[in-house]
Amino acid sequence: MKKKLAAISPCLQPSPNILVSCRDSSGRDNALVVGYCCNCSYDPPMLMVGIVPSRFSYAMVKESGCFVVNLVGKDQRELFDYMGSHSGRDGDKLLATGANVADADLINAPILSDCPVNIECEVVDSIKTGSHEMFAAKIVRIHADATVVKSDDSLDTGLLDLI
Ligand SMILES: Cc1cc2nc3c(=O)[nH]c(=O)nc-3n(C[C@H](O)[C@H](O)[C@H](O)COP(=O)(O)O)c2cc1C
Repeated sequence: MKKKLAAISPCLQPSPNILVSCRDSSGRDNALVVGYCCNCSYDPPMLMVGIVPSRFSYAMVKESGCFVVNLVGKDQRELFDYMGSHSGRDGDKLLATGANVADADLINAPILSDCPVNIECEVVDSIKTGSHEMFAAKIVRIHADATVVKSDDSLDTGLLDLI
């Protein structure tokens, strides 16, 4: 294999695509697409999401200290594209898309009910890495489409047809 130097960029693959949903102190809900996300601890179970401070959602997560990570099915492309290309600053994205929402069980944030998996998260720390602030959060509850939950309650993520 012949190698060549490539332009320096955040090039890890695969890059997951999720919807992060959040709520501000007035009860206003919002959601955005996040590609900068990863598992970061299995004990306790934790994940990280990266949000650019200029996003409307940023202040919501910063203030509430919680959010929901929603895994997105391939059949939800329209919702995904809208949430990643419009800002809550310009209008209610959940209303505009007709997204079904429900209150999370343990945190003050909305769940996107039509997404096959919803992960309730509590922020424990954050680090400004550059363009993004990475929020490290404890996973406190997972709601999943019953067809992908095995008899021991673990998730069979292979059954999910995700975006
Ligand atoms: C594929 C994709 C990945 C994205 N990843 C991120 C991300 O990791 N962090 C981020 O802050 N914005 C990311 N965005 C951009 C936001 O989703 C977008 O700016 C959104 O409109 C912000 O919404 P808000 O202003 O309502 O919070 C991504 C967009 C797309 C389409």
